Amino acid sequence: MNSVFVVLAVLLSTSLSLRTDKQFWKDLAKQELEEALHTKWNLHTAKNVIMFIGDGMGPNTVTATRMYKGGESHRLAYEKFPHMGLLKTYSADKMVPDSACSATALFSGVKNNKDTIGVDASVKRGDCERSLLPEARLKSLAAEALDAGKSAGFVTTMRVTHATPGPLYAHSADRSWECDAFMPAGTEHCKDIARQLVEDEPGKNLNVILGGGRNGFLPSSAANAWSCARNDSRNLIEDYEKDKKDRGLKYSIVSNKTELETFDTDNTDYLLGIFADGHLSYEYQRNETDMPSLSDMVAAAIKVLRKNDNGYFLMVEGGNIDMAHHRGWAKVAIDESAEMEEAVKVALEMIDEENTLFIVTSDHTHTLSINGYPERGSNIFDIAGASTHDGINYTTLSYSTGGPDSFHFYVHTDDNNETTVGRRDPSKENTNDMLYNQVAGIRLIENSHGGGDVAIYAKGPHAHLFHNVHEQHYVYHAVMYAMTHSSTEHYYSSGCALFASVIMLTSIFMINIILTF
Ligand SMILES: *[C@@H]1O[C@H](CO)[C@@H](O)[C@H](O)[C@H]1NC(C)=O
Ligand SMILES: *[C@@H]1O[C@H](CO)[C@@H](O)[C@H](O)[C@H]1NC(C)=O
Ligand SMILES: *[C@@H]1O[C@H](CO)[C@@H](O)[C@H](O)[C@H]1NC(C)=O
Ligand SMILES: *[C@@H]1O[C@H](CO)[C@@H](O)[C@H](O)[C@H]1NC(C)=O
Ligand SMILES: *[C@@H]1O[C@H](CO)[C@@H](O)[C@H](O)[C@H]1NC(C)=O
Ligand SMILES: [Zn+2]
Repeated sequence: MNSVFVVLAVLLSTSLSLRTDKQFWKDLAKQELEEALHTKWNLHTAKNVIMFIGDGMGPNTVTATRMYKGGESHRLAYEKFPHMGLLKTYSADKMVPDSACSATALFSGVKNNKDTIGVDASVKRGDCERSLLPEARLKSLAAEALDAGKSAGFVTTMRVTHATPGPLYAHSADRSWECDAFMPAGTEHCKDIARQLVEDEPGKNLNVILGGGRNGFLPSSAANAWSCARNDSRNLIEDYEKDKKDRGLKYSIVSNKTELETFDTDNTDYLLGIFADGHLSYEYQRNETDMPSLSDMVAAAIKVLRKNDNGYFLMVEGGNIDMAHHRGWAKVAIDESAEMEEAVKVALEMIDEENTLFIVTSDHTHTLSINGYPERGSNIFDIAGASTHDGINYTTLSYSTGGPDSFHFYVHTDDNNETTVGRRDPSKENTNDMLYNQVAGIRLIENSHGGGDVAIYAKGPHAHLFHNVHEQHYVYHAVMYAMTHSSTEHYYSSGCALFASVIMLTSIFMINIILTF
């Protein structure tokens, strides 16, 4: 009796909350149309630039995050930005990129080879000598901002020497050369990425460095496959401190959440915060008294950077989205993507929208799919339906590639020695567990990156420069244009504005026709 009542109640509430009537759809569209018609171009110079990179946050991850947070019709904070486009993420040598080359394209405006950092495509992976040539080295948006008298910095949930932040300050023929212990024989002329951050320009001039990766900075730390170590017995955190002292600069070094919340902003122009030996924890596992969240770090970063009257450049990486996808944990990846949106909201609260170019994008996709045909309003982590082939249920989410735990197939031999391929039944498992591995079709060591386009969302000065299908390295050039040009300086802006008004008038006309019918 009771369960019947519960089922009825659920059905009733579902039908009430998920409207399907004509008026509902018309109102939804009308609201969007209003927004479209009131979109204005901001032709100011971008004094500040904030770039959020959801690592591995392809369009399907964004869609799943939206559903996770509020259902199909929900809109994430950055999905309300007035301008957006797509980015083609292929690298100089690969159809599907890694984070090192895609970050180099985004931050330095040139496509290069997979697994290389801050150098052009003349440098093959591992070619130390070639990476030392000045003409092979690329200048990043962080370096450009510093040269323009702005402040610059980055926040990441990864090691601060990892592939996405690396290209902001380092030039390395191999992304894995994060610490000297990871550098092979014959590369002695090249400096590891951690030392470049502390000793070289622009690394040592960065105003904010927040993330993980302590082991790459300290002597006698234990190296393993996932964590760097120093073999040269240097303490790079002490070296950082000495450099700032010698130059008479105001700095703070923090190592846990309490210190990040209490450092003296007024007396800090340079902030170094390393909160873990390796990458930071997944948000759902984070020790809240010890480790800051991505939002906490973003707030601290902006407090330091906004002190500069000339403005700032800030890169924020939600890196654990990618980590979780590689392990085939879609729920963790989506939860990390949800936390990154929280950090976007924190940043939006702290900025002046008129003079801050605010970008949210990704470096590459993953192979996550959203499969047919779950009911509207259903939980994104549940069963979508049963296979018409064998009657076995399948989940709404799956991956094309994955590690052993994502490979749910087995060979079944019947009494007549006939063999068939079977698949584990997900309705007998807890698909809502954080660490549930959604099924993957092709078995690899882990889930691989995807080669699809990523979305770029933008608001603020010259955000309209993101407006169609772009090359990934175009982002650097558009940001540079936004940081250096204002409306009076360039015909391109006004020409486009005229063009846009014509388009807008035409579309109002068209819409009137459509609405009349
Ligand atoms: C570490 O340092 C020792 C002594 O300087 C050297 O023999 C060894 O090759 C180094 N190992 C690595 C991985 O660099
Ligand atoms: C934070 O770090 C400081 C300095 O190492 C230490 O004194 C303090 O106990 C730490 N706080 C917590 C909550 O771990
Ligand atoms: C969280 O971190 C604090 C400070 O380091 C520590 O005292 C506490 O035991 C940790 N909590 C858990 C659940 O690990
Ligand atoms: C498929 O999953 C649904 C929902 O979890 C469940 O009610 C149903 O019994 C499952 N069907 C099969 C054939 O396993
Ligand atoms: C199935 O194969 C096994 C091993 O090859 C064999 O011993 C057995 O007789 C076979 N059974 C049938 C029904 O063919
Ligand atoms: Zn990546």
